[in-house]
Amino acid sequence: MDIRSGQDGDAVIRIVDVAKRYVIGQNVVNALDGVSFGVRAGEFLAIMGSSGSGKSTMLNILGCLDRPSEGEYWLGGVNVAHMDDDALSDHRLYNLGFVFQSFHLIPQLTVAENIALPLFYRGLEDDQVAPRVQELASPTNSPAGSASASPSPAPSPTTRP
Ligand SMILES: Nc1ncnc2c1ncn2[C@@H]1O[C@H](COP(=O)(O)OP(=O)(O)O)[C@@H](O)[C@H]1O
Ligand SMILES: [Mg+2]
Repeated sequence: MDIRSGQDGDAVIRIVDVAKRYVIGQNVVNALDGVSFGVRAGEFLAIMGSSGSGKSTMLNILGCLDRPSEGEYWLGGVNVAHMDDDALSDHRLYNLGFVFQSFHLIPQLTVAENIALPLFYRGLEDDQVAPRVQELASPTNSPAGSASASPSPAPSPTTRP
């Protein structure tokens, strides 16, 4: 695989010479310094290293939560390295999923409403959202059915967090 010259046609993620510098006053921390790798569809990747070696920095960049100081990040054929926050948010919405160590659910919403929320951000209508929520919620339904899969009324991003 030749990541730098872009020869790896199968890579869904291509990180090329990525650097990340944190500037704190007079001090500069080189958290990442020329990292390159590719990830193909269906491939599992683990990032390992000692504390402070830049794992979280790399994950933040991979997750479009932060931008590299230098280098390229090709995600699904688009270089997202220097996109603005709104464009990065769109990429997260359509191209990325996160499984956090803690759930980060919104406590004021039901399970179904938590599932539905990103679908509303995507602009789906209620009648498109309900079957998707039903499908996604079914493995997690409690025996008593307390995690109702019917989002009613539909959560609105403008009125509910
Ligand atoms: N927001 C930040 N501001 C300044 N320095 C940071 C910031 N985040 C991380 N660092 C520094 O960057 C280096 C890499 O940190 P990090 O990515 O958190 O490593 P890891 O997750 O592997 O422990 C460390 O030296 C850390 O102190
Ligand atoms: Mg970390």
